[in-house]
Amino acid sequence: MQLDVVTLFPDWFDWFRGQRHIANAMAHGHELRTLNPREHTPLSGGQVDDTPFGGGAGMVLRVDVMDAALRGFYGVDPVDLRHQRRVLALTPGGRMLDDRFVEELAAEPAITLLCGRYEGFDERIVQHFASDPVSIGRYVLSGGELAAMVIMDAVLRKLPGSLGHADSALEESFSAALGGDPEYPHYTRPAEYRGWKVPEVLLSGHHEEIHQWRRARSRERGAAGGGSSLP
Ligand code: ADE
Repeated sequence: MQLDVVTLFPDWFDWFRGQRHIANAMAHGHELRTLNPREHTPLSGGQVDDTPFGGGAGMVLRVDVMDAALRGFYGVDPVDLRHQRRVLALTPGGRMLDDRFVEELAAEPAITLLCGRYEGFDERIVQHFASDPVSIGRYVLSGGELAAMVIMDAVLRKLPGSLGHADSALEESFSAALGGDPEYPHYTRPAEYRGWKVPEVLLSGHHEEIHQWRRARSRERGAAGGGSSLP
């Protein structure tokens, strides 16, 4: 999968690329590229943002700058780009990220993530260049960079190459395999610590009983408010 991030802070992604599971994914053929709109801006002095019409605090990323950046990088009109690949605009008011959305993105061959900064984007960027406005939660970050990392981490762990064990992502929280419920609790050695015992069934070696026990714990957690992302 090809992941392109449009960001004024490409350095942030050097750290991200260096993390083991991301590096593994890259070694497996997935690609993470960054594109800095400042390098493509048609405005003098590297200007990329401006004050909002109507007044208010902060600065807004300009639509002409984003147009030039995407056009320079992909060689097509950004209005058409979103028909060639998913273009996500990261914004607190967008479609909420959940496991189903992550699955949807993981099935794409290529996505582009647009990071806003300061007060965000000129709305015309979202309307005309993005295929999906996406939010990782109903709170405001200082920019889309952390949201882009959250999305890429969640997407890459669904794909071969990121996790060591091929099945690790199959039965995790909110997956279809768990009916959309949160994951069951995990335990490891020691089997008893300070009097806290691991549930007997997990030590029994009875695979079907273990499966039933895990499914039941997962359902309990879902019912207790962990929530299901499935209908
Ligand atoms: N940019 C700023 N806040 C955000 C959020 N909550 N989700 C996605 N992008 C953002």
